Amino acid sequence: MGKTAYVNGQFVDMQAAQVNIEDRGYQFADGAYEVCTVANGRLLDGDPHVRRLHRSLAELKIPAPDLDIRELLLETAQRNQVDWGIVYIQVTRGVAPRNHAFPDTLTPAVVITSRPLDYQPVLAGASQGKKVITTPEIRWRRCDIKSISLLPNILAKQQAREAGAFEAWFVTDEGEVTEGSSTNAWISNAGTVVTHPASHAILNGIVRQTLIELMENAGIRVEQRPFTLEEAKWADGAFVTSTTACVTPVSHIDDTTLGDGSVDTTVQHIASLYRDYIYAAAE
Ligand code: PDD
Repeated sequence: MGKTAYVNGQFVDMQAAQVNIEDRGYQFADGAYEVCTVANGRLLDGDPHVRRLHRSLAELKIPAPDLDIRELLLETAQRNQVDWGIVYIQVTRGVAPRNHAFPDTLTPAVVITSRPLDYQPVLAGASQGKKVITTPEIRWRRCDIKSISLLPNILAKQQAREAGAFEAWFVTDEGEVTEGSSTNAWISNAGTVVTHPASHAILNGIVRQTLIELMENAGIRVEQRPFTLEEAKWADGAFVTSTTACVTPVSHIDDTTLGDGSVDTTVQHIASLYRDYIYAAAE
């Protein structure tokens, strides 16, 4: 983690940074967040991230802080000398004596941190697939909100780690794959790519949105519809996307090997589209 954090109006040393123990983020996970890529000192897709944060806050009835968030994200990265990495922002409802209902007079609390991340191996790693496991979808019905309340997600990711897997995919009672614990889920079959539609059931990833556009421009057919786990296991290939995972190919779902276990050519193509996109944005 970098050394300087933005905390409620000030840049402070991480060691000295403090938040109130009655912050509703701490007591209720009452807040929203964003993770944005810093590519060669620039914010990647900064505007869509800020727009999504505002949307999450509006859905949670948290007033948007009156700040130039884009500038603050950039400044936090710069103060931490992060050229390639991520910047994290969380906005919580604010500080109040613990009570589920909230006063409408609170000032939202804003914390921003930044840390380096070497994107090169992530972007280069697309030649090899990783394993995902599956876990029951137990989350609430507003997964479109990027809430800091992530218990099912952290338990799912931990389950994946303990199984030696990269990610866990949530599967509904109807057998449909929604998304991963911190990534969007995709399958590729005969050159067509399928991903869950943007609905209340998934987070509409910024990488997801960028990639849909890149794929459409490249003439790759994209279907935004739910797909089942069964369909995924028969697919030629699969992958996950997120700000930190970029396009990470999937070679195994539970104990099933996709195709012959090598990365499907369509998935390779898609990974290269996103790689080119990041490097172009970084120039
Ligand atoms: N996670 N779905 C979930 C549940 C996520 O948490 C994320 C991102 C995504 C992908 O969104 P994006 O493309 O905007 O990064 C999908 C971030 C990286 C995290 O929690 O660290």
